[in-house]
Order: sequence, then C-alpha cells, then structure tokens
Amino acid sequence: MNRLSKRLKILASFISKEDSVVDVGCDHGYLGIYLKQQDLCKSIVCSDINQNALNCAIRNVADSGLNIECVLSDGIKSISMNNINTIIISGMGTATIKGILGDREKLIKVDKIILQSNNNHEELRRFMNDIGYYLDKEKYILDKGKWYVTMLFIKSNKKNQDVELKYGYLDKNYGNYLLENYKRIRNRIPEDNSEYQRIGIIIKEIETIMQ
Ligand SMILES: C[S@@+](CC[C@H](N)C(=O)[O-])C[C@H]1O[C@@H](n2cnc3c(N)ncnc32)[C@H](O)[C@@H]1O
Repeated sequence: MNRLSKRLKILASFISKEDSVVDVGCDHGYLGIYLKQQDLCKSIVCSDINQNALNCAIRNVADSGLNIECVLSDGIKSISMNNINTIIISGMGTATIKGILGDREKLIKVDKIILQSNNNHEELRRFMNDIGYYLDKEKYILDKGKWYVTMLFIKSNKKNQDVELKYGYLDKNYGNYLLENYKRIRNRIPEDNSEYQRIGIIIKEIETIMQ
C-alpha cells in the first residue's frame, strides 16, 4: 500500500512477525491493512471509538480484499485482549493515551506498546514506567514539516533513567530541532524571568546529551 505515510511506517517498523496487534484509534485503517498486506505480524485488529472512522476502515479493508477484524471500541474496553500482546496508539494526546492504558486488567498479556503521542512526551514516558513498561527505543521522523516521536515500550520492572524519561534517546536531527526550538522560545523571554532560567537548564541538558 503506497498510501502509508512515513509517520505510520515508523510505527510498523517496531512490529515483529510474532506480534498479535490492536491498532487503537485506527481511523482509516491504513496501518492495519499495511501490516497484514506485508505479512508483518501474526494478527491485527483495527479499532476506533468513532463509528464514521471505523466505517472508513471497514471500507478500506473491504477494498483491500483482506480479512481484518474491525471493532468499535472506546480504547480497549470492547476489545478481547486474550490473544493480543501488542498495542499501537498514535495520533492522540498523552491524556487520552493514559486514559486508554488505565485499563490495567486488560494489559496482563500485553508485552509491547507502541505510542506516537501528539504532546507531553515526558509525562507519557513517566506514566509508562509507573504502569510497568520500559522505554526500549524511540524513533524521530519529520513528516510533512512536522516532527513525530514514536516510542517502543516493553513490559518490564526496569525503570528508565531520569534523562531518558525527560528526553528519550535523542538522535542528532531531533536533538538539534529541540535545541533550536527551545532557543527560539527563550529569546522571546526577558532574562530575569524564571521561565528563561528553566529553559536555559533544558538547553544545557540537551547540549550535554548531544555531545
Ligand atoms: C488523529 S486520528 C489518528 C489515526 C491514526 N492512528 C494515525 O495515527 O494516523 C485519531 C483517531 O483516534 C480515535 N480515538 C480518539 N479517542 C479514542 C479512544 N478513546 N478510543 C479509540 N479511538 C479513539 C479517533 O476517533 C480518530 O479516529
């Protein structure tokens, strides 16, 4: 499928052949269709809270000629999680993602969670450590002029270091983007403002990681 964006391909790159996956908030269903078409996972369920979005996924699945289960569900509430070990959630904010993953009983068999949140990445990493998932990898991609952070969490009692929780595993390009962004923000603030000092500390920390 050539409609799959760079951003969605990054999510797919974290999937392995043995994974039984649910794509929560699948919208058009492109990612699930791609995973099945390319035979990249063991099984895939596409789900969405919105009937119109799910109908769109159902139509695209039908057009693809594939057999993919599509389920109307608020998060994983209506998903049978007995045979699912991998969750993908992308294109939502951290508050929504935390709400969906708050359903801990349903995570018992889930050993891999792949997230692409629109905001508050540090808060999300800390939450994931709190519920027993370790940040194993991050990938950064610039797609249509916007940066996306994609996180791979693995079930583990191991905790990430504070610097990993704050910044992930910065690569050169995304690190430089963050630095420029923070410097631009700081330039708009008077030097005697406490926010100026706070952003200065962040800039120093990122520069240290990037050395
Ligand atoms: C911006 S779209 C992202 C679609 C796709 N995941 C992507 O990354 O391109 C967000 C989708 O998440 C769905 N959504 C929002 N909250 C949800 C929830 N609590 N449970 C399931 N789906 C949800 C919306 O209906 C919408 O289809």
